[in-house]
Amino acid sequence: MNRKRADGDEASAGPPNTDVLRALVAGARQRITSAEDLAALSAVEAELTGRRSALATWKRELGGLDEAARRELGGELNEKRRVLEALIAERRAALVEVARAGVLEADRLDLTEVIPAPGPGHPHLVTRIREELEDIFLGMGYEIAEGPEVETDWYNFTALNMPPDHPARSGQDSFYVDLGDGESVLLRTHTSPVQIHLLERGVLPIYAVMPGLVYRRDTPDASHLPVFHQLEGLVVDRGITFGDLAGTIETFTKAIFGEDVRARLRPGYFPFTEPSAEFDISCTICGGVGCRTCSGVGWIELGGCGLVHPAVLESTGVDPEVWSGFAFGFGIDRVAIMRHGIEDMRAFIENDVRFLAGC
Ligand code: PHE
Repeated sequence: MNRKRADGDEASAGPPNTDVLRALVAGARQRITSAEDLAALSAVEAELTGRRSALATWKRELGGLDEAARRELGGELNEKRRVLEALIAERRAALVEVARAGVLEADRLDLTEVIPAPGPGHPHLVTRIREELEDIFLGMGYEIAEGPEVETDWYNFTALNMPPDHPARSGQDSFYVDLGDGESVLLRTHTSPVQIHLLERGVLPIYAVMPGLVYRRDTPDASHLPVFHQLEGLVVDRGITFGDLAGTIETFTKAIFGEDVRARLRPGYFPFTEPSAEFDISCTICGGVGCRTCSGVGWIELGGCGLVHPAVLESTGVDPEVWSGFAFGFGIDRVAIMRHGIEDMRAFIENDVRFLAGC
């Protein structure tokens, strides 16, 4: 008979006897149970029970046998087929269950949130900049001084050559508490009153920086806070000139912003310095070419400065004929936003941990 060979060798050797059939089932059972997934099982199934399987081939050959042998072998073949089909069905059910469990596992919602233990904190950016500035000036031979945040009118204004009704007072409005008898105290509007405290101490020469909080009746915006930090500088010695002031500003701005940054002085006005100037640094965002942050001018204003007004020295009993000096003051918060490219100063007081942790 011209027939196609089936996969099993048994099929080509004529009708199988009982041993061959038993061996077939044993081998098949092993292959079925070791099928790793549904696709592998389907392949095994096709080989064992498909059209080209040994079982199918033998069945086709039944017609060549006599009736008794045909009935007997036919019955056996059917039985073996049922056995194999049952084994395959059983394995398939098991594999379907495994696949379903895999899908469920992949889809499982993990409701156990892992919250990392809080790590160590760090000082606020403004505090770190203040400390850095203090270090720079300590390195230049300055001392660090402090003064009260609640001042009398005398220290905050009058001794600084701003008598009552002086128009410059209106630029720094503050919170006053009336003490009666015409006396009032206020939250200091700048750190310049500490100049007066130092001068009153009567110990000369003076090389000091005075950091601290100041208060103004300002509405917060991207570059203003009603409570902010200043760093005041005061030098009083013999023969101090405007050149010393310019050199000092150049030195500390380079130290805090980097060597590429340039400083410049512009004529300005403060009642307690003469001559007075405002000082700018080249824009840290655009490098001085002009951008949105510096309104296209390439420079950003940092603070005020000047030679100490003789009237200020006199108001504290220091002889302006013998002593001269310079003073400067600027916002530490502003240095912080400029050095770190922070667009809105209000971020400093919003207590958003994501911002605070990142700077
Ligand atoms: N106190 C001034 C201000 O707050 C800044 C300043 C300090 C100006 C020292 C001159 C000298 O605007």
